[in-house]
Amino acid sequence: MAEVFAAKLLAGENALITGGGSGINLAIARRFASHGASVALIGRTKEKLDSAAEEITKAGGTASGHPADVRDYDALAAAIKAARDLHGEIDLVVCGAAGNFPAPALGMSANGFKAVVDIDLLGTFNTCRAVFEYLRRPGASIINISATQAFTPMPMQAHVCAAKAGVDMLTKCLAIEWGPEGVRVNSIAPGAVDDTEGMRRLAPTPEIRKQLTQGIPLKRFASKDEIADLAVFLSSDAAKFITGAVVVCDGGQSVAGLGVSMMAAMRPRT
Ligand code: COA
Repeated sequence: MAEVFAAKLLAGENALITGGGSGINLAIARRFASHGASVALIGRTKEKLDSAAEEITKAGGTASGHPADVRDYDALAAAIKAARDLHGEIDLVVCGAAGNFPAPALGMSANGFKAVVDIDLLGTFNTCRAVFEYLRRPGASIINISATQAFTPMPMQAHVCAAKAGVDMLTKCLAIEWGPEGVRVNSIAPGAVDDTEGMRRLAPTPEIRKQLTQGIPLKRFASKDEIADLAVFLSSDAAKFITGAVVVCDGGQSVAGLGVSMMAAMRPRT
């Protein structure tokens, strides 16, 4: 069994990850690199990309940073081409660039709503559209990072809920259109993930964090590495017949609904 656990599931593959300079996407980049993939990181901030690429390289991986805003199609397409020229044909894509701020619908301008839709939904389309010609086909995999907001309406999150619902529908449409080319397209929908910019914004106090945790059947947040492990699985040959799927990784939070409070209320008396 030892060799199974030591196996590099993505050996020789080339990955491109947007939003790869930090958070869940950086965790995915580290995991991909540890499984033998080269990683090209795309994001807005050159310094973040450079330090992430340096860290991965020092750990023995192959990584590079290519600054671009996913909302700017021409700049993004140029960055993707530079990544392809450096690493070779692209096998694995993770569309992870995202933006979020908690605000009620009446507390955000049209431009605030648009900023999130443009980063999350349009940015995902832009990346998929621009990378397609450089994908190694058949065999390539695209993962779009969604969120449970895509199917669980939440206050203060109208922009994110709308954008992520669009991301999941885009995933399914592209899975149908690109399946015959041998390109798989899936979404990962994380729930609450520890130590991320998103959760720092959405659960800024210990009280809010405690309340959120109570609603999760597994009674904790995910780690970034747990989301990264799912990305490795979906990108690997172990998932080669999975496409058009939205894979939820939220400790059961979205299926629980009222169930968690009912568990407490209906516990058998001893
Ligand atoms: N409440 C209400 N509106 C807000 C806001 C808040 N907390 N934060 C930003 N906005 C509005 C701005 O006022 C602006 O609208 P306006 O022009 O009508 O005033 C609009 O959003 C765009 O803001 P701006 O800062 O110019 O956009 P940006 O493109 O630089 O940043 C954001 C995009 C807003 C998503 C920003 O929060 C961001 O860069 N986030 C990246 C990091 C992140 O969100 N990580 C978590 C990922 S899950």
